[in-house]
Amino acid sequence: MEGALIARDKVGVQDFVLLDSHTSEAAFLNNLRKRYQENLIYTYIGSLLVSVNPYQELDIYTVSQMQLYRGVNFFELPPHLYAIADNAYRVMCNEYNNHFILISGESGAGKTEASKKILQYYAVTCPTTEQLQTVRDRLLLSNPVLEAFGNAKTLRNDNSSRFGKYMDIQFDFKGAPVGGHILSYLIEKSRVVHQNHGERNFHIFYQLLEGGDKDLLCWLGLERNPQKYTYLIQGRCAKVFSINDKNDWKIVRKAFSIIDFTEKDLEHLFGIVASVLHLGNIQFEEDSNGHAIIRDGSQIKWISKLLGAHLSILQEALTHRKIEARSEEVLSPLNVDLAFYARDAVAKAIYGRTFTWLVNKINGSLANKVGFLSGVLNKTVIGLLDIYGFEVLDTNSFEQFCINYCNEKLQQLLIEMTLKAEQEEYELEGIEWEPIPYFNNKIICDLVEQKHKGIISILDEECLRPGEATDLSFLEKLEEKVGDHAHFVTRKLADQKTRKSIDWVDFRLLHYAGEVTYCAFYLLLDCFLLSELDNRRRPETVATQFKNSLTSLIEILMSKEPSYIRCIKPNENKEPGKFDDFLIRHQVKYLGLMEHLRVRRAGFAYRRKYELFLQRYKCLCPATWPNWHGPAAEGVERLIKHIGYKPEEYKLGRTKIFIRFPKTLFATEDAFEYRKHLSTWGCWGPRRWQLHPEHSQSFSRGSFTLARRAAKKRTWAVQTIRKFINGFINRKKPLCEENRDFVRLSQYHYLMRLRDHLPKNVLDKSWLQPPSILEEAVPSPIQLQQKVVTSAVFSGKKEGYLESLSQPFLETRLSECSKPLEASYVTPVVKYDRNGFKARERLLVLTQSSAYVVEMAKIKQKIEYSTLKGAGVMPGDFIPLFFCFQGDVILQCEHIFETVTKLCILANKQSLVKVVKGSLRFRVGSGKEGTMVFTVGPEPQVFKDKTGQLTVVRPQLSPGKQIDLREFQQLGPLPQGGLGGQADIKEDGDLVFHPKSSSSHTAHEDIELQASNKVTHM
Ligand SMILES: Nc1ncnc2c1ncn2[C@@H]1O[C@H](COP(=O)(O)OP(=O)(O)OP(=O)(O)O)[C@@H](O)[C@H]1O
Ligand SMILES: [Mg+2]
Repeated sequence: MEGALIARDKVGVQDFVLLDSHTSEAAFLNNLRKRYQENLIYTYIGSLLVSVNPYQELDIYTVSQMQLYRGVNFFELPPHLYAIADNAYRVMCNEYNNHFILISGESGAGKTEASKKILQYYAVTCPTTEQLQTVRDRLLLSNPVLEAFGNAKTLRNDNSSRFGKYMDIQFDFKGAPVGGHILSYLIEKSRVVHQNHGERNFHIFYQLLEGGDKDLLCWLGLERNPQKYTYLIQGRCAKVFSINDKNDWKIVRKAFSIIDFTEKDLEHLFGIVASVLHLGNIQFEEDSNGHAIIRDGSQIKWISKLLGAHLSILQEALTHRKIEARSEEVLSPLNVDLAFYARDAVAKAIYGRTFTWLVNKINGSLANKVGFLSGVLNKTVIGLLDIYGFEVLDTNSFEQFCINYCNEKLQQLLIEMTLKAEQEEYELEGIEWEPIPYFNNKIICDLVEQKHKGIISILDEECLRPGEATDLSFLEKLEEKVGDHAHFVTRKLADQKTRKSIDWVDFRLLHYAGEVTYCAFYLLLDCFLLSELDNRRRPETVATQFKNSLTSLIEILMSKEPSYIRCIKPNENKEPGKFDDFLIRHQVKYLGLMEHLRVRRAGFAYRRKYELFLQRYKCLCPATWPNWHGPAAEGVERLIKHIGYKPEEYKLGRTKIFIRFPKTLFATEDAFEYRKHLSTWGCWGPRRWQLHPEHSQSFSRGSFTLARRAAKKRTWAVQTIRKFINGFINRKKPLCEENRDFVRLSQYHYLMRLRDHLPKNVLDKSWLQPPSILEEAVPSPIQLQQKVVTSAVFSGKKEGYLESLSQPFLETRLSECSKPLEASYVTPVVKYDRNGFKARERLLVLTQSSAYVVEMAKIKQKIEYSTLKGAGVMPGDFIPLFFCFQGDVILQCEHIFETVTKLCILANKQSLVKVVKGSLRFRVGSGKEGTMVFTVGPEPQVFKDKTGQLTVVRPQLSPGKQIDLREFQQLGPLPQGGLGGQADIKEDGDLVFHPKSSSSHTAHEDIELQASNKVTHM
């Protein structure tokens, strides 16, 4: 339970009793769905376990899981079959009483799997001796044998149990399993002779044909091919992909040897199985009198051999009916239809009796011989009841009637026992019992089973009275005797609306789980035909037999302590993870789960021994923390007073506290969580945490919010740590999402350390070594030196300078491998030619001694630094950078600060850089001069104006706006005519390099600032 409280937000509640809206079917389904989708297939309703078939192997049935649940308090671990099994076992050992675990649910819901898992649990966890090993094996291996003979593939389940099974596991006084006993109910004999499409006969027939060795088949007169046998092919699926008959045969054979079947036993057993197959192949034809005769004698000979029955007696039994007239017996021949009917009846009877024999034989082998021989008889038992759930088919016959009657009885037992247990507990605890309103289905049980007046009695009478019984006479009798019962309807008794849905030969029962319409004809037929008519005394019909066996089963169960497992099938397709709301809602209703929850919740949702309650919540009250030295009951009283329980929320029993509403418990649990949280964070103080009426809501909400916040913080911390580790692992990769934060953090820490370890003076060359991942990101001394130059040239003069500071200078603006070996720096530039100012893409390569303007791999121009007179830098980044050499060269460059800085350092001419504003004059060649005018306009433009000046317009920069230099490159050629005039350096603005000489110009198609004679064109 404690775990359930903590887990309730994530995966619903682990106990439906703790649902706030416990009467809402939608809330019930929601909870079930939420958990199922997390593969949490088990949920409690108090001590009842609801199980949803996962249709996949889950890792929850391992030996370590078994050990986990062994001996642990029921509510301490998540709901599980093992918890139910272990609880029954421990109570049995402690109190020396008997128990049963009732497993019910519809076909395919997982009942048999559950019962096998429980058996395995006991086999693994119970103490055993070498001597008892055999008993353990026999208990386990009785399953494959019973399944071979009692299970079949149906549309709903490939391994459907076609009988009800109750198995007692007997334990000695030490709790070791020493024996067992099995009771079987209602084996579905009709399957032997008929199967619906998509269904098979009992597994054993196919196993024998597929796995039996040649000699055995030969001895039985059988062929391996199942298609040869009428009784095996009606469902048209003798071979099924999901079933391995050959393998199963091996397991069954091994089981037989362990369960102590002799070769003679097996010979008889397989002889009978084979004779059923031969019976199915017998065909009849009419003789000249219209009487049935057997068409081919070979089958009947095999049957005679295998059953050890005289041939003529067999032939007579299949073609004649024996009528008793007073003291004489008269043989009356059958027609062909009746002969087929008789053949099938014999096959069903043979198989049914063989199954009973088999169960008895297994019981003989499971009998507690060890205890008997040693004089220590078994002390206690745990019974496992695996029985089909409520069944509603299109046509409901005698079988459905018995199954549903059985479920009606078991539901009655469940409700009665739950109520009884509740009542007893209240009594024991000295708490006043408050009557719980619930639907008592005794009224329906009575309708079916009451002596003389119930449906079974009426059925008996109809079957056994002289004269012909018909469905209509049976219905009339029913209407006469139970017609006024509120849960019984026929077409005649029904109102206008209901009438249409009931046939003349049907009657309808309003079961606790819903309405079921039964066909009177089939009811009568099965009940009559299957009765033992050779008995001279008034015989029992099958219905009465079933009623009696059910009554004795209920008696067996009533004498034991109950545990319940309700299995649910989540979908019709045997698909894992699929939760079919409609189908499940139906089962929740038929399994009586809402009713059970209502009964369980009518009193108190939660109860716990004082010691356990105090142990968990003592930290919520200063008087009980850290230890309470008085009686636990008083401690709990102090505690709940302190936290403010209202009187109607709880009751104090002799040994337990009873809490009525889940919300009270949740608030307590929240407070506990919050307190735990405070202690974790070291805030354990003298503050009082109370659930007083006026504070309780806000307190629980407040503490819950705080707990949530703390959880959020923890999640954040976990994520950050995870990110850090991930960053560390990926630190050598180029900067990416995974390592970005890690690199930033390293950078931060490095810079912080660097701040404290800066060189003491200009002569101090020491520099804190950055971590390898930061070598590129952290400025090196060279970088810093360059930045100092940039600062000297541009600081306070050119806009964009501050922004440029954080941009590291690179060695090259080409890829490292494209950089010429000799080059100190390379960057793409645009060079404007002299005549039309055409934009041409070039590379500017700076070496130790010269600057080169290069086109592809061809050097177009070399400028020795010694000839360099100056450089002008225009306002704004978007304005081309003009290097004005002799001749003068106009270049445009994107990384203006970087390029100019590199140039300054390499040429050692930093003082020659000027930032100019307004206009500047330059030489175009052959003594001509030009003027460049810089203005601001709406759009960037470069053009030759009417006066022949080169006008460069830059847009007004709004703060923070970046302009792409490419805009200028796209302006196209400047107006023809070139730029006349001498280069000039304006002091009032951007940077300008003066050419060394103003005389020597080289005519060139490009506009060039000639570096006197040293400018070389290639
Ligand atoms: N706990 C489980 N884990 C995995 N698979 C399961 C589990 N329970 C049931 N199954 C699957 O569902 C199938 C049907 O289960 P099972 O035979 O126990 O149903 P049943 O309720 O006994 O049906 P029937 O009434 O027809 O006998 C099993 O063969 C198995 O494939
Ligand atoms: Mg089953």
